[in-house]
Amino acid sequence: MNDQPPLLRVSGLKKSYGPAEVLKGISFDLKKGETLSLIGPSGSGKSTCLRCLNFLEKPQAGEVLLGTERIGQRPDRKGGWRLMSDTEMAPQRREIGMVFQLFYLWPHLTVRDNVALASIKAAGMRRDEAHALAEEMLEKVHLRHKADAYPEQLSGGQQQRVAIARTLAQKPQLILFDEPTSALDPELVGEVLGVIRELAEEGRSMILVTHEIRFARDVADRVIFMEGGHIVEEGPAAQVINQPRMERTRSFLGQVGA
Ligand SMILES: Nc1ncnc2c1ncn2[C@@H]1O[C@H](COP(=O)(O)OP(=O)(O)OP(=O)(O)O)[C@@H](O)[C@H]1O
Ligand SMILES: [Mg+2]
Repeated sequence: MNDQPPLLRVSGLKKSYGPAEVLKGISFDLKKGETLSLIGPSGSGKSTCLRCLNFLEKPQAGEVLLGTERIGQRPDRKGGWRLMSDTEMAPQRREIGMVFQLFYLWPHLTVRDNVALASIKAAGMRRDEAHALAEEMLEKVHLRHKADAYPEQLSGGQQQRVAIARTLAQKPQLILFDEPTSALDPELVGEVLGVIRELAEEGRSMILVTHEIRFARDVADRVIFMEGGHIVEEGPAAQVINQPRMERTRSFLGQVGA
């Protein structure tokens, strides 16, 4: 297992908005089956980092390898690299699923159709197959019985679980979560975290940005603490959160009451 090449290898990722450098050279690996949690203060670059991994944001420097495939860039004729177009990138984006804070379900489609839509439109699956897959994925988030409901008939926690099922239906190699519970009422957070925990236990490869520090400690294999566009500290989840090495990590954890 340890000799396996990583599923994801991120090296030297840099991103600026105008004069502001938001990612200052981020490098890390993710093994297949691993859950990595990204924590850090607001504005530290966590969301930007996730969005650069699938080139929703274009980094100015660095590379992202998924397996042996370089994400977002193709060799050019001069021996360098050029950015891929959105069309060229579409198959790669299907390999990297994303779950956001807000769920963006289609209000006029049933839960089943929301989950099946991309399988039909983007992957060209037959409608009945896509529906069967959608129901299987809804089962995973414990919402098969809501397949005929419309999003507005569901709670926020249920809607987010549908969004997770929609991402699972894409059969991605890697799932990125950006604060999937921070738009939810507190009593609905648990059901969504419960589903994420089950996915981690299934051995999915995931990166989770979260302010739920105790959850990160319990569910993630590794934790990265970021601040100011740098990785300050990285290690096994329990070590970084219970016994941080860096003073800065310690004070952040103290502030958020972890
Ligand atoms: N599209 C953009 N244009 C300009 N600046 C941006 C843009 N997106 C992010 N930033 C800036 O980049 C920095 C990092 O933002 P990012 O959203 O990655 O932080 P974060 O760690 O996810 O914070 P939070 O915990 O609040 O979600 C911030 O200073 C933010 O203002
Ligand atoms: Mg963010």
